[in-house]
Amino acid sequence: MLIKKTAANAIVSSEITPESVYKARRDFLKYSIHAGMGLAALSQAPALWATTAAHAFSTDEAQTPYKKVTRYNNFVELGSGKAYPAKNAHRLKTSPWSVTIDGEIENPGTYDLEDILKPHTLEERIYRLRCVETWSMVIPWQGFALADLIKRFKPTSKAKYVAFETLHDPKQLPGQRSRFGSFDWPYVEGLRMDEAMHPLTLLATGLYGKDLPAQNGAPLRLVVPWKYGFKSIKSIVRISFTEQQPPTTWNKQSPEEYGFYANVNPTVSHPRWSQKRERRIGHFFKQDTLMFNGYAEQVASLYSDMDLHKWY
Ligand code: MTE
Repeated sequence: MLIKKTAANAIVSSEITPESVYKARRDFLKYSIHAGMGLAALSQAPALWATTAAHAFSTDEAQTPYKKVTRYNNFVELGSGKAYPAKNAHRLKTSPWSVTIDGEIENPGTYDLEDILKPHTLEERIYRLRCVETWSMVIPWQGFALADLIKRFKPTSKAKYVAFETLHDPKQLPGQRSRFGSFDWPYVEGLRMDEAMHPLTLLATGLYGKDLPAQNGAPLRLVVPWKYGFKSIKSIVRISFTEQQPPTTWNKQSPEEYGFYANVNPTVSHPRWSQKRERRIGHFFKQDTLMFNGYAEQVASLYSDMDLHKWY
């Protein structure tokens, strides 16, 4: 299969809306870029660049500056300090890239990322992504609903969970060399099928109108905005459909501190700190953390019969 060298959602720089314009707008742009299109096709299809209404799940809160979003990261494989992932980002080769999609589905296989992206329309959605240490950001992501990919690959009735895996390659990801830490690599994560099918759950390929930088999880990462940031696994190479609940990296590392669900919940403290308040990156004062990160209306029904103090 021919693998093109260009990033899947590469666009010429003059076509990218400058960040200053983004920030000034209340009506955010929603790109309708067909991921597989070449530049020639783009220039012949101006209608696809039309400005449309904001995505239903977008927020009008001030966005976190691009520089902060891309220089204050958690990506242990690229270094354990917040600044290291950006410094080591050049080590990770994000194109060509392939993803294995397997387990309880009709057509398991390994696919070029380009082929995975082709049928999907990249949408802009602006979410607050909260992280383990209760800091948060507002990020305009580009991506598509994980649900659309799931529908394409036709899970069998046995598929109850979706498991995700990050690239395992210590040559490119220095944090995976054993001397750097005790994680059981690769980084793995999982969602229950109804969580994975929720329209808020995104597979992201870009932010701020640009391809994802490596430190943010290029070329493909998960974004689950009502959960703590560690659920949003980066640089995905495998998506598996399973009958059993899959293991997750932070839960394996410290089960008392990190559960499978990891829903943002100000009423459940982390054993070592309160999760009632958070610091928005770039703000001086902390603010109250909202249940399900402010998305209770959309997702609370997924957990209506569960004790969220037990299933943290
Ligand atoms: N994915 C991998 N593979 N490795 C990681 O260390 N860190 C997680 C998550 N995904 C992590 C990961 C954590 S703890 C957070 S808070 C978010 O990525 C951070 O995403 P950001 O750097 O884009 O803000």
